Amino acid sequence: MSEVIIALSKGRILDDTLPLLADAGIWPEEDVRKSRKLIFATNKPNIRLVVLRATDVPTYVQHGAADLGVSGKDVLLENGADNLCEPLDLEIASCRLMTASVVGRQVTGRRRRVATKFVNIAKRYYADRGIQADIIKLYGGMELAPLMGLADEIVDIVDTGNTLKANGLEPLELIEHISSRLIANQASMKMKYATLREIIEGLERAVIQRRSA
Ligand code: ATP
Ligand code: PRP
Repeated sequence: MSEVIIALSKGRILDDTLPLLADAGIWPEEDVRKSRKLIFATNKPNIRLVVLRATDVPTYVQHGAADLGVSGKDVLLENGADNLCEPLDLEIASCRLMTASVVGRQVTGRRRRVATKFVNIAKRYYADRGIQADIIKLYGGMELAPLMGLADEIVDIVDTGNTLKANGLEPLELIEHISSRLIANQASMKMKYATLREIIEGLERAVIQRRSA
């Protein structure tokens, strides 16, 4: 049995990941959300969990500091996923990446101002459509930008649509369906194949079980 480190994204994804991991027979020895620790032993002596900023998870896995990770597809699309494989869609933290603007506002023309924290995704999206976009990088609260005249539209995550609605915005185009993915370091997949295979299969069974629940 090889030693395995699994990197978890904190925040919203963590809330969905811990029950899924438990369904797959892996749980931390103490309450991850109450502790200030960043590294946790589990009920499996060879498996440890590290809890990271969501955007740092692929970096740890890419460099082999963690063997497996749980990462939002939005984070993978935005930051690139070299040296990684993506063995499983965990079907948690599901949402959509969309463009949105003020209700009824016509956003037309070949040049537009777009506020987002997903700068790379937005650049690719507009370039693919032949639209010239000036991308304005924000770190949160994107919904405010079209209301304040900072941008014509935004690229942001939409789940229930309540945040858009509460701010007088409406979703426009779907860019990508998002969910959290299990990611793996490519070298670890070779060197620790049997142990990782067992963890991946356990998670896959848990995902399938939930689908039919
Ligand atoms: P940070 O604090 O690191 O900037 P964040 O505030 O975006 O991160 P969370 O809100 O916990 O962190 O969301 C992290 C991930 O959860 C997103 O990258 C996306 O994959 C998913 N997500 C975000 N918003 C939603 C939502 N409303 N519904 C479902 N999943 C979401
Ligand atoms: C996310 C996202 C949207 C909202 C969408 O924000 O950036 O603002 O959720 O969800 P809804 O369609 O169900 O309303 P989050 O709550 O994570 O806050 P933050 O990104 O602004 O920190």
